[in-house]
Formats: sequence, structure tokens, C-alpha cells
Amino acid sequence: MAKTEEGPPASEESHVISVEHRIEQVRKRKEEALLGGGEEAIARQHDRGKLTARERIEKLLDPGSFVETDMLARHRVTSFGLEERRYHGDGVVTGWGTIEGRKVFVFSQDFTVFGGSLGEVYAEKICKVMDLALATGAPVIGINDSGGARIQEGAPSLAGYAYIFDRNVRSSGVIPQISLILGPCAGGAVYSPSMTDFIFMSEATSHMAITGPEVVKAVTGEDVTLEELGGAITHASKSGVAHFVGPNEEKTIKLVRYLMSFIPDNNLEDPPYFPPTDDPAREEQALLDLMPDESNKPYDMHEVIRLVFDDGEFFEVFPLWAQNIITGFTRLNGHAVGVVANQPQVLAGTLNIDASIKGARFVRFCDAFNIPIITFVDVPGFLPGTDQEWGGIIRHGAKLLYAFTEATVPRLTVITRKAYGGAYVVMNSKHIRADVSFAWPTAEIAVMGPEGAVNIVFRKEIQSAEDPVERRRELIADYTERFSSPFIAAERGYVDDVIEPQETRPKLIAALEMLQTKRESLPPRKHGNIPL
Ligand code: HXC
Repeated sequence: MAKTEEGPPASEESHVISVEHRIEQVRKRKEEALLGGGEEAIARQHDRGKLTARERIEKLLDPGSFVETDMLARHRVTSFGLEERRYHGDGVVTGWGTIEGRKVFVFSQDFTVFGGSLGEVYAEKICKVMDLALATGAPVIGINDSGGARIQEGAPSLAGYAYIFDRNVRSSGVIPQISLILGPCAGGAVYSPSMTDFIFMSEATSHMAITGPEVVKAVTGEDVTLEELGGAITHASKSGVAHFVGPNEEKTIKLVRYLMSFIPDNNLEDPPYFPPTDDPAREEQALLDLMPDESNKPYDMHEVIRLVFDDGEFFEVFPLWAQNIITGFTRLNGHAVGVVANQPQVLAGTLNIDASIKGARFVRFCDAFNIPIITFVDVPGFLPGTDQEWGGIIRHGAKLLYAFTEATVPRLTVITRKAYGGAYVVMNSKHIRADVSFAWPTAEIAVMGPEGAVNIVFRKEIQSAEDPVERRRELIADYTERFSSPFIAAERGYVDDVIEPQETRPKLIAALEMLQTKRESLPPRKHGNIPL
């Protein structure tokens, strides 16, 4: 039980309280705080397959680095019997520590205390570490495991959420904000994580939803389990809410530590540099071999990424969602970079609504945090169809265009094969100020594919031909020869060089080294108006 019984403070002779007694009181309170909601509640937490708030912090931070704040804070509520249950720490563990020696701030919601629900003091604790993080330029990592607003506290809980949201927005683009969802996260409580840069979820134990399955059933009549509605795999593959998923809590927490190796502490710093072990001059014959002779045959763009970057390392962001575009972090000659690449294996690498949103958000993160962007292009265009048009592909596609165009970090592009139409321009083309653009000899930079082009331009000629099939074949061959190549673009400087695939790594490294000192800024303004 958390209520502290401190006993009579004074001795017979004097009202002075001895230092020893004070120290004893402090120790007692801190011991109670370490137990959160108590041993039984901790056992229940473990029975649910979950770690406690403190165990999670231990796994996240370097051993012994955690410094706790507000361990003795308690709520001020005097109704609903809460006055009898004043747990030290008030259900959230806050403070700072290090990850690989780098300072980070953390808050970890403690489900053993009132189901981790958020009240006034609890919110104040979170706001305090968020303020320190912003003031000192260090990332904030929030571990979420909560029943939401503390019902007994009412409006102050709602206000508490709002104060956190406000800090999320002020910190956005200044310090990295990372959310781990390791339990329930429901109702309006989902909006703080969703405004952070990355959400990590753990399979089986974490759930996010605006309303639970009962409300869904009552309102829409749908039968759905909580796991289907808001589990980790749902959010990682269907909704695009969870960037990363781990099979269990421990592995999910490790992924957060790994992410930190690619990102800087704040927007004024560069991402960490690791002296490379891979040869910067390494040429890869396999890059040549993986490209099929037929332009419509798919190949795996992951292979290209694996062969080009240091030691084949790649930390993919959203590996399960909108797989027609690949986003993720890797290193080039020791420097962290962000990769955006079309994936010909999925929807032929077309850009659709989800891919545009996924790419745009990733580009904006990289740009905010000084991470150079390397784009691999094999895109036949935007995905046609009523689904896409009615869903607003024009609006969403514009996000990706806007995000690339406003990015001022070093930007490199490699066109491996198709670069058609508007999608060519969107995918970090030279025209929207990519710094260096390469094309492989297999690149086809054109308004559209040969079949489509011939069908439109030569429709009448084909219809009136003696042998329409043969005439169409001839025209396609001619168009392919003349327009579906990198040469028109290279002659005009739209690509800086046509490189052989095996040279891609050394060429990119040379370009990135050249761009290390790039300085570019946008015109002063309050903010742009990205089509949201
Ligand atoms: C106060 C809460 C609580 C809450 C849980 N508890 N949620 N106390 N406020 N919101 C308490 C329970 O009373 C219980 O206390 C303990 O936490 C554990 O809860 P259980 O129900 O026993 O656990 P479990 O079966 O695992 O279920 C977890 C749960 C469920 C799914 C989170 O408790 C639940 O549905 N809670 C309510 C969720 C909710 O509707 N929250 C409000 C959302 S609206 P004892 O003392 O018995 O151990 C919201 C608005 C935010 O959050 C707006 C922001 C702008």
C-alpha cells in the first residue's frame, strides 16, 4: 500500500526532527515509489506478459544511467477515495539517462498505479521532462501503457493531455520524439504518440484505438477483436500508424536503441558518424546482374539497397505498410542517410496514396534532422483508379512532391529504370533541386511508357495500318529506342551522369562527401502550407 505512515515527528525534549529521521522518511518514500502500485500489481503486470515501467527504462537506457525526477510527486485529489491512495510517483516514472552515452529523456507509464491513467500531477511530470529535453536539445522517449485519462480527476486530466500535445508540437522538428506503445493507448491519448516522429509497438501486448471493439460494434455493427482493430500488426501494415514492430517488449525496446544510432540529438546537430568497415570503392557486379532484360519484369529494390550501402545494413521504416515504396535508414561510408526507393515488386513500384504519405513523412523527418536523402527511382507513374482519385491521390501525391522540394539536406538520386511522367519529377528529380542525380544505362526517363505513348500518339496510324499489330510493334520499338533511355535527360543535364550500376556505391560516396558542406535555406516565412 502506498500511503506513507510517517509516525510522530518530534522527540519528548524538543520539536526538532533529527536528520536521521528525515533520511529514513525519504528512503521509505522512495522504497514505496519503487514498488509503484505494489507487489501484487507488479505480479499482475508480469502475468499479462508485460514488464514494469522501471524494468522497461532499465532495458532502454545504458546500465546505471537513469536519473529520476519527481519520484515523490503525488496527486492532490481528495475525492472518490483517491485521497487514501496517494502513490509516490503518481503512476509515471520520469527522468533522463543515456543511450550509448547520449543523453535522452524518458517517461514510462506505470500500469500498476490506477492502470497507468493520466492525472494532473502525472501530466506535470511528463511536461517537466519534455521541457528539459527541449531546453537541452535531447530526444524524448515516451513509454505508453495506460488506461487513458484518470477518470476520477476529470477535466484536469484532459488539460494534462493538452499540455503534453502542446509540447509535442513545439518540440516537433527540434528534438526527436519517440513513442513506445507497450500496453493500451486509447481515446484522445493516442494523439501524443501520433504527433511524435516514430511509434514502436510490440506484438500481442500493445494496442492503439480511438474507440474499443464494443463501441465499434454499437456504432457500425462490425465485429472486431481489439488485436484486429488496434494491434501492432494492424497499425504496422494497414493503418500506417506504427513505424516499427517488435515480437516482444524486450526486442522492441532494443529497436529504439538501434534507431538512435541513425539520428542526431536535435535539429542543430549531425547524425552520429561511425567509422566505416566497408570499402568505399567497392563495386558490385551483382547490381548489373539483378536488372532483368525485360522492362516489365520486377526485381527486388531491397537487393540494390543491400548491395550499395555499408555492410548491407538497412533499418527499414514501415516495412509492412505501403510496400511499393521503401523507406529506411542506413549508412554510406559511415554517415547516416535516409533511403527512399520505389519497389518494382509491389504494384510495379507505382506511387499511390499510402506510398506518397509514407515517403513524405520520412523525407520531412530526414530534412528536419540533417539526414541526407538518397532516392532510388523505378516508377511507372501514379496508380490509376477510382479508389485513388476519390481517395485524393492528387492531394496526397502532392505531399511527396512538396516534401522533396522543400528538403534542404543533401539529396542524391539514382534512376535505375523507369522514371515516367509526374512521378519522375516527384521522386527527387534534379528539377526540384536534387543535388546530384545519376541514371543507370537502363533508365527510361519519359512522359510515359512506350506502349501507352504509342497508343495515344499513333492511334490513327495504327488503326489504318495494313498490319496494325506489326505497325504498333515497330512504333513501340522506335519510341523505346528514342525516348525510353537516359540520353535525352543526360544531354540536357537533367541527370549529372549515366553511371554503370556496379559503380553506384563509390559514385554516391563521392557525391555525399562533396555535399557535406552543403548550406541551403528556404525564404523566411511562418511555415509553408503543405497539402495535408
Ligand atoms: C482511472 C483506471 C483507468 C482510468 C484503468 N483504471 N483505466 N483508473 N482511470 N482511465 C484502473 C482500473 O480501475 C483498475 O484499478 C486498474 O486501472 C487496472 O485496470 P483493469 O481494468 O483491471 O485492467 P485490464 O483488465 O487490463 O484493462 C485495462 C483497460 C481498462 C483496457 C485499460 O482498464 C479500461 O478500459 N479502462 C478505461 C479506459 C478508458 O475508457 N479510458 C478513458 C479513455 S478517454 P484497480 O484499482 O481495480 O486495480 C481518454 C481521453 C483522453 O483517455 C483525452 C485526451 C485529450
